[in-house]
Amino acid sequence: MELKDQLAIVTGAGRGIGQAISKRLAAMGASVILAARDTEQIQRVQHEIEASGGSAHAVQLDLRNEQSIAKLAEVIETRHQRCDILVNNAAIGNIGKPLHELPPEDWDQLMATNLRGPYLMIRAIAPLMIRAGSGHIINISSLAGHGPLPNGAAYSASKWGLNGLTYSVAEELRPHRIRVSVVAPGSVNTHFGGNIPGKNPDKKIQPDDVAHVVAMLATQAPQSFVSEVLLRPTQKP
Ligand SMILES: NC(=O)c1ccc[n+]([C@@H]2O[C@H](COP(=O)([O-])OP(=O)(O)OC[C@H]3O[C@@H](n4cnc5c(N)ncnc54)[C@H](OP(=O)(O)O)[C@@H]3O)[C@@H](O)[C@H]2O)c1
Repeated sequence: MELKDQLAIVTGAGRGIGQAISKRLAAMGASVILAARDTEQIQRVQHEIEASGGSAHAVQLDLRNEQSIAKLAEVIETRHQRCDILVNNAAIGNIGKPLHELPPEDWDQLMATNLRGPYLMIRAIAPLMIRAGSGHIINISSLAGHGPLPNGAAYSASKWGLNGLTYSVAEELRPHRIRVSVVAPGSVNTHFGGNIPGKNPDKKIQPDDVAHVVAMLATQAPQSFVSEVLLRPTQKP
């Protein structure tokens, strides 16, 4: 119960990696705010966490909408007055066509979710952490933010952007003892972007592997922090 009495927010908590991270943090004693658009999914995760003795609260969130983020921040401020761990996990892919065929509306939706969303979340939550003089912000990026992704240029650009945002905010918040890290996994066994035929899902990184890294980041000794993790499958799928 290393995270007893801590409050964590996980975006995109209704399925995939976000669900695994939420369950892991709850199992370690944290109270977890489960945020995503689909209330049925986050409520299911809430019930599963509660059934295994953990604490969670589903709050509907659309990262593309500033008002929605303000509402979440209000819930945190009135109910909890703190946030120890913010995991910016939610993202969309829109992978599958070259950039010149991507409509501008799709580019805008992707950037609003993957890059502007984490910015707005940090804008809403960092002041609480600054007040407390501690906190972890963990951004889930991708190896597509470290190399090219043909037919996924917008997604790749959003993750390169998220990396730059992370490195810079980490320096801004260091004086407040807030540690800002980024996790960049390769292909993970979720339904994100559809399963590529011919790839063995069992050899892929599993959602729990990412949750394991997040748990490690959130439990480091106060004097140091791992600022970036690149996570690869042991065997190529
Ligand atoms: N799977 C992979 O191969 C892989 C590899 C590297 C990195 N990643 C990264 O890992 C993270 C999680 O991916 P995943 O595989 O778990 O994807 P996923 O299964 O598709 O889950 C994405 C989550 O994000 C939420 N979301 C999407 N748009 C949102 C919005 N506008 N507002 C709030 N929540 C929103 C979704 O919920 P709603 O639709 O209900 O809102 C869902 O809970 C992403 O950042 C992704 O880029 C994934």
